[in-house]
Amino acid sequence: MSSEKEFNEIIYGLCRKRGFFWGPSPEIYGGSAGLYDLGPLGKLLKNRLEDRIRSSFVKAGFWEVECPTVSPAIVWKASGHLDGFIDPVTQCLSCKQVYRADNLIKEEFPEVHVEGLSVEQLTEKINELGVVCPSCKGRLGEVEPYNLMLKTRLGLDQEAYMRPETATTTYLLFKRFLTFFRDKLPFSVFQIGKAYRNEISPRQGMLRLREFTQVEGQIFILEKDEIEWPRFQEIADKKLPLLPYQTQEVESEEVIRLSLAEAIKREHFQKPAYAWCVQLAYSIFRGMGFSDDIIRLRQHLPTERAHYAADAWDVEIHTNSFGWVECCGIHDRGNYDLTRHQEFSKERLSVKVDKKPVVPNVLEIAFGVERPLFCLIDNSYVEDEERTWLRFPPEVAPVQVAVFPLMGKPELLSPAREIFMEIMESGLITQFDQSGSIGRRYRRQDEVGTPFCVTIDYTTL
Ligand code: GLY
Repeated sequence: MSSEKEFNEIIYGLCRKRGFFWGPSPEIYGGSAGLYDLGPLGKLLKNRLEDRIRSSFVKAGFWEVECPTVSPAIVWKASGHLDGFIDPVTQCLSCKQVYRADNLIKEEFPEVHVEGLSVEQLTEKINELGVVCPSCKGRLGEVEPYNLMLKTRLGLDQEAYMRPETATTTYLLFKRFLTFFRDKLPFSVFQIGKAYRNEISPRQGMLRLREFTQVEGQIFILEKDEIEWPRFQEIADKKLPLLPYQTQEVESEEVIRLSLAEAIKREHFQKPAYAWCVQLAYSIFRGMGFSDDIIRLRQHLPTERAHYAADAWDVEIHTNSFGWVECCGIHDRGNYDLTRHQEFSKERLSVKVDKKPVVPNVLEIAFGVERPLFCLIDNSYVEDEERTWLRFPPEVAPVQVAVFPLMGKPELLSPAREIFMEIMESGLITQFDQSGSIGRRYRRQDEVGTPFCVTIDYTTL
């Protein structure tokens, strides 16, 4: 088998050649890192993933909403993103190339822990380890904070930002939700929509994008319901592959398979409702076709959590290109967001509990669609001495059925077209192919991972 880097090149080559994705975009102008175009097969695959995701959320009782992708600065001041959504960057003093400091250290010294270090501590680490510019070996400057939001303006002069997450825009609707859900908590909503992050130097192709499609489910819930969550019973016996933070602190990557009831008993989760969200995220990824042996659930170290998170677990998928890839975050956001928006908007974002105002908590499942999309292609790749092909799980394959008339004779073409139309109308993504030998046509479909092909021959008649 090839090295991770070689494998990744094979996958990117295949994706470009077969029309999954192209980029960086816009290619004819030299491309901008972190921007990609989806080709016809990539778009079909993404649609299919989104359909599966949407249906998982709806089945779990979530309602879909859609909010603007741009909001005035006050929203992001309140959410904490203006002050807290930052990456530590360092610039080469010679060639002026800019890098994300923590990643740079990790690339050269994977064993060094950089999570949670301040910009001053990162500067010290760079000096202590002698990290230099990877491109010209020049000295690196002091590490500084860099905000990841894309700035724009509304009208002539209103400062505004493209949303770095859909979550915040969902929280702004809390009062409307209260009316819609007839003042009954908990309630659950989700969005599937674009989000933007001005990554400093994105170098991992589809895994680090400046524009991507985010899926985020939010449960608005009172603390007592997080503990007494009746739906926990439905999943209490389900076993999950867990990597709690205590295991990581002793430098181990060994997953433990525990039922959720046991995981609560061992205090890996404090709240049954949160554990239920972790299980839901896991089952959404299973629903996208990832097998159990390439999924694990990793808890964040306390120093690693985002500014709003009281607890956080990630769904990680194993790839041949990058090893384990973080694909989804499940966050216990407490009442941080609603409290902040209440403070900044001066609107009441609480409910009455025992006649006292209480700001509800939020549990969140958050991920970008492009990461599982890439991980799925990476894991579907198969090769032998003669050829390469893709083995997509049938439930998400971009093309589900191909129809081939054995020959271009009218007596075969006409029923083949009829069968093609019938399959299309049943809702399956279907392709009609009459060119080339039948073997070649099967190979073409194998190459893009089509699980079913139908040949119309004289026996069919
Ligand atoms: N809403 C959480 C995230 O963007 O990761």
